[in-house]
Amino acid sequence: MSAEEKVIVFDTTLRDGEQAAGTRLGVREKLELAVQLARLGVDVIEAGFPISSPLDFESVQLIAKEISTATICALSRAVEKDIDSAGAALKKAKRGRIHTGLGISDIHIASKFKDDKYGKTLEAKKDKALDMGVKAVKRAKEYTGDVEFYCEDSGRADRDYLYKVVEAVIAAGATTVNIPDTTGYSIPEQYGKLIADIIKNVPNSKKAVFSVHCHDDLGMSVANTLAGVANGARQIECTINGVGERAGNASLEESIMAIRTRKDFFKVDTGINAKELYKTSRMVSEMLGIFVPPNKAIVGANAFAHSSGIHVDGFLKNPLTYEIIRPEDVGSPKSAVVLTARTGRHGLKHRLGELGYEVSDTELETIYQRFLDVADKKTEVFDEDIAALVGDERRSVEQTFELQYLHVACGTGTLPTASVKVKTKGKDTPIIAAACGDGPVDAAYEAIRIATGLSPKVDHYSIKAVTGGKDALGEATVKVLDEDGVRFTGRGISTDIIEASAKAYVDAINRMAAAKI
Ligand code: KIV
Ligand code: ZN
Repeated sequence: MSAEEKVIVFDTTLRDGEQAAGTRLGVREKLELAVQLARLGVDVIEAGFPISSPLDFESVQLIAKEISTATICALSRAVEKDIDSAGAALKKAKRGRIHTGLGISDIHIASKFKDDKYGKTLEAKKDKALDMGVKAVKRAKEYTGDVEFYCEDSGRADRDYLYKVVEAVIAAGATTVNIPDTTGYSIPEQYGKLIADIIKNVPNSKKAVFSVHCHDDLGMSVANTLAGVANGARQIECTINGVGERAGNASLEESIMAIRTRKDFFKVDTGINAKELYKTSRMVSEMLGIFVPPNKAIVGANAFAHSSGIHVDGFLKNPLTYEIIRPEDVGSPKSAVVLTARTGRHGLKHRLGELGYEVSDTELETIYQRFLDVADKKTEVFDEDIAALVGDERRSVEQTFELQYLHVACGTGTLPTASVKVKTKGKDTPIIAAACGDGPVDAAYEAIRIATGLSPKVDHYSIKAVTGGKDALGEATVKVLDEDGVRFTGRGISTDIIEASAKAYVDAINRMAAAKI
């Protein structure tokens, strides 16, 4: 890859990312994360803002000492004491960078710069800011040759003034110029043009690398980052999972995978080892306590999950029908077919095959109808549920009695009562019966006894959840004894445990009846 084709990846998870509300990492945690970022292959790790706190100073110092495969960067404002602190924290760095700068939009300059110190008019303040920027770069150069200058709030800055600042800081020695869309205000077309215009209009622009640093206030940080790259930016500043100040920063995983997947369009690449993305994302999520939404691109739990019938069918024929990235390429667990009420027969048959069940078309149809009943009640049907359904179906015997209706009423201070409708094979009219009991299951069993005219004694009863969660399938097992003391075992499954219990009892009675034929 030639130098021109490479986009430098500048990770700011440990600095801008850690500015996300409610997060604070310890020194050791920061080092651990920096080690992982280096493994991921980021070119620059912005390790912190040393003047801001002793903890930040110590973190930058430690990371600079321990990590030699990436450039370690320290943030500073365009003031001497900040730059000196950054320089001191980076002293042991094999490759250290100072990232200095200041707000250059009119609103930043007018609001942040006091009249008595910086001048009464906006123009006077702008001149002063320019001067401070140049001095800051020169000061930083005393510590390292690698100086990056940020023109904060470039997205809303006055163009001519921005060009002037960029030209002056490059002339002063800045090797990278960061054009942040600090407030996430830009539209991709505008931001891309901003980068292209700077490169075109600033006479010494060829002497520096232009960097994009986009925030997500309008949900366009990644789009803006990519627009910047398409227009000549050769460094992207991102955070893992897009964490950061307010709505966050451009997500590293999304930006780099967009560049890689659409290399045909961008004609550049990064040195990122994408196989480390998923792991890094999980680490950041756990350390910062910021949950990754399931639908998050690249690293979300559903990023490679297929559920609807049409998608599953296409995916099973050829994953490329519905996947543009292979999960293994980003270190994610393999693609999953998630079984839900929208899954078709093909998806169910495939999963049955994976679980080792060979089913005929007729059997598949019956299991599929039962699967749909369960899927309507649960958000996701798990492998254990499928196994229970198949087991239940395969154990089926002659249905002498069919439980067509069950209603149970119970609760604190009420007498548990059940009413059932049971159809007996060969008889036209189902029998309706009602009974009370010690509990809802007992009441249901008594009503079933009345409706079937049979009274097997319950010898054992148990119920277990097939999977976890409050919508789990319940599997009831009941052992009954006939009048000769012969034991029959019935099983029933349902998301409703009373229904599972009643089904298990009817199943046991059917087995008893079948043995007598
Ligand atoms: O968003 C921003 O402008 C920043 C700068 C400090 C680089 O984070
Ligand atoms: Zn920022």
